[in-house]
Amino acid sequence: MSTIALILAAGLGKRMQSTLPKVLHPILGDPSLLWVLRALPPEVAAAVVVVHHGKERVAAALAEWAAQGLLPCPVTTVDQGEPLGTGHAAQRAAAELDRLDCGQVVILCGDVPLIRPETVARLARAEATLLAMDLDDPTGYGRVAQKTDGTLEAVIEHKDADDAVRAIRRVNGGAYGLPWAPLKQALGQLSNGNAQGEYYLTDAVMAVAGRIPVKVELCDPTEMIGMNSRADQALLQAYARERINGRWMDQGVTFLDPAATLVGPRAVLAMDVVMEPGASLTGWVEIGAGTRVGQGSVLTDCRIGTGVQIRPYCVIDRSQVGPDCKLGPFAHLREGSRLETNVHVGNFVETKKTTLHSGSKANHLSYLGDAEVGERSNIGAGLITCNYDGFNKNITTIGNDVFVGSDCQLVAPVRLGDGAIIGAGSTITADVPAGALALTRAPLVLKEGAAARLREKQKARKG
Ligand code: UD1
Ligand code: MG
Repeated sequence: MSTIALILAAGLGKRMQSTLPKVLHPILGDPSLLWVLRALPPEVAAAVVVVHHGKERVAAALAEWAAQGLLPCPVTTVDQGEPLGTGHAAQRAAAELDRLDCGQVVILCGDVPLIRPETVARLARAEATLLAMDLDDPTGYGRVAQKTDGTLEAVIEHKDADDAVRAIRRVNGGAYGLPWAPLKQALGQLSNGNAQGEYYLTDAVMAVAGRIPVKVELCDPTEMIGMNSRADQALLQAYARERINGRWMDQGVTFLDPAATLVGPRAVLAMDVVMEPGASLTGWVEIGAGTRVGQGSVLTDCRIGTGVQIRPYCVIDRSQVGPDCKLGPFAHLREGSRLETNVHVGNFVETKKTTLHSGSKANHLSYLGDAEVGERSNIGAGLITCNYDGFNKNITTIGNDVFVGSDCQLVAPVRLGDGAIIGAGSTITADVPAGALALTRAPLVLKEGAAARLREKQKARKG
């Protein structure tokens, strides 16, 4: 028998005011449902996600995460059909849980993203547990009543509760760890005779509590905040940010302004990294020791080496940067850029599917697309690789120790051999052999004294 996670995610999320299913809204770059799945501990053998509204998009997201290796266990979905309550959602998943030979079920919500792995592990290991929290304002939640031994007596939904019950501040978090056999039996006997006309999962949990003791475990309320509105999303993001940035500060990362720095849950930062205000790291990002991430820089899915200086306002996407490189300000590394050691990519330089080998520099105002630049080569200001002829993308290859003067165009496919020198202002349309000098020049027109004569002529015309 296995431990299976059951994740409820069929709700519409009307208050989000969105076409995107609620569970796909991101917190620090990762969708809520992905946070929940990533919180599943190793003892959870598989997860079943109950979907309905936006089910195609949720299924597509799950397939993508599985392909990227982001999921800790196999995940299947069950379509609830018209959602008739949390109990109905669990009923609809019963056959799938049986198929997975479920012994213990851990029930979570797809829109409650900040539950901690340790907390889910407690639910997975416990006999029978309900997570609860004490709130100053319990409005809307199910209230928890306990027996004298502290175990669960009842959960009464807010809408079904009288004033005495509504005064209870201990509420149901909506996450449970329960033996599947008695829960399944209780689900078979649910009715919807309540204030909301819904099939309540909580009624089934109470029925289980009538047969075996169900522990009430208190948890940190931030772990149980649901995302029902954009305001909730902002609040969750603030808690996630505090949690993540706090953890990296404990591990030797400097944040000049932690409240204004967004580090996603999949980022890995080494010691002595410095994060300037407004920097944002989303997706899979790795930053090496001693690297500085400049103000306003936005990094997505990339690996940055040690001792790198990322000056303000760089954008780096799906790229790799080696040790001791200097980037920006205002550099743009697009997908498939790879910088080896001590490469400089300066202001207003854009790279795409381009490798710069060690010691090369492109310091100003260039576009390098589908290119390879050897070691120690110097790319002058304003170089453009003309990689696209309107039909195909073509490759530019630049050797080692090449010097390219300012304002050149390299019309790809083209190859510059080792040690070549390209004169400023050239348009290179053929391969340049190693050691050659290449330049294209329009003839210079020089007329002594002509400037004064031209000014006189213009003055006469106006006057
Ligand atoms: C539920 C609990 C309540 C608890 C609260 C915690 C019940 C009856 N009540 O309240 O005691 O305090 O959670 O947040 O369970 N969902 C489905 N299908 C449905 C209905 C809901 O998949 O038919 C999903 C939602 O998408 C959501 C989760 O279940 O992820 C919880 O649903 P929600 O409507 O927020 O639960 P409440 O009834 O408010
Ligand atoms: Mg609700």
